[in-house]
Amino acid sequence: MITVATFADVRAASAGRVGLAPTMGYLHDGHLALFRAARAGSDTVVASVFVNPLQFGPNEDLSRYPRDLERDQRLAEQAGVDVLFVPPAEEMYPVLPKISVIIGDLTDHFEGARRPGHFAGVAVVVAKLFAGIQPAGAFFGRKDAQQLAVVRRMTVDLSFPIEIVPVSTVREADGLALSSRNRFLTADDRRSALALSQGLFAAAAAVEAGERAGSALEAMVVDAVGAAAGIELEYAALADAETVQPLSELTRDAFLAVAARVGETRLIDNVAFSVGADSVTVDRGDILTGPSVLEDV
Ligand code: PAJ
Repeated sequence: MITVATFADVRAASAGRVGLAPTMGYLHDGHLALFRAARAGSDTVVASVFVNPLQFGPNEDLSRYPRDLERDQRLAEQAGVDVLFVPPAEEMYPVLPKISVIIGDLTDHFEGARRPGHFAGVAVVVAKLFAGIQPAGAFFGRKDAQQLAVVRRMTVDLSFPIEIVPVSTVREADGLALSSRNRFLTADDRRSALALSQGLFAAAAAVEAGERAGSALEAMVVDAVGAAAGIELEYAALADAETVQPLSELTRDAFLAVAARVGETRLIDNVAFSVGADSVTVDRGDILTGPSVLEDV
């Protein structure tokens, strides 16, 4: 694996079918799942590590976002990455972009409503990565379901010839979805945070038993989170996977999303539903089998 700092060096080091996995670093097993998925179908696997200032709000945690390049290099190499792109801010933003990429009403609800400007910042940096690296495939986690929808729609609207590949959410053995923010949880927070995945799993089981009403599924998450200490629910909602509009009945591909503040830390999670002619397939994510790479920090 080589580490490079410029788009030109990424292109020079790439051959054949290029698979790209964009990240903000401080890698965990969720990121590594993207790299492995990319490895499976690509000649050259490119992973980027860039903490994108444009997608952080004024009260968000840009300055305390965790960084550890040496560790990221080691983990990325082990997971099969060929080229690690770690651009300095001057490479990504030689000038402050005047363009903005607004994804219409896909960002009206959920994370978009609570984090003004966030998805515009994500869309600009992902568009730059797509244009500068020109991958054939790009890998994004289902954990960030609204981000996945935004990236998919931008790819269609701007005619990027790139296949967007979703990767299932990776979870710890007890169900907690991996996130860079988990490191800010105290032991008590960590216990309370399990209410998110527990509520989602209860709703997933209800879907498998035939439940289709959004309000019933949302209530299961509300109840689970309400029963836990020290956790403040922001939303629990069934959303159309493509349009990211609230959905009252599970009649189309969808995700059931939850956001909550656990102590000082804001967490999001979801389960995804794929609606077929006469059945619904649930993607709860994948439970880690080995030890989490976060334990070797
Ligand atoms: P970051 O939070 O570092 O996440 C990078 C990628 O990893 C995203 O596609 C995210 O959905 C995926 N991911 C995070 N946790 C995961 C988990 N537990 N299981 C599976 N995948 C997971 O998302 C971003 O960075 C940025 O917004 C970015 C797309 C890089 C643009 O700056």
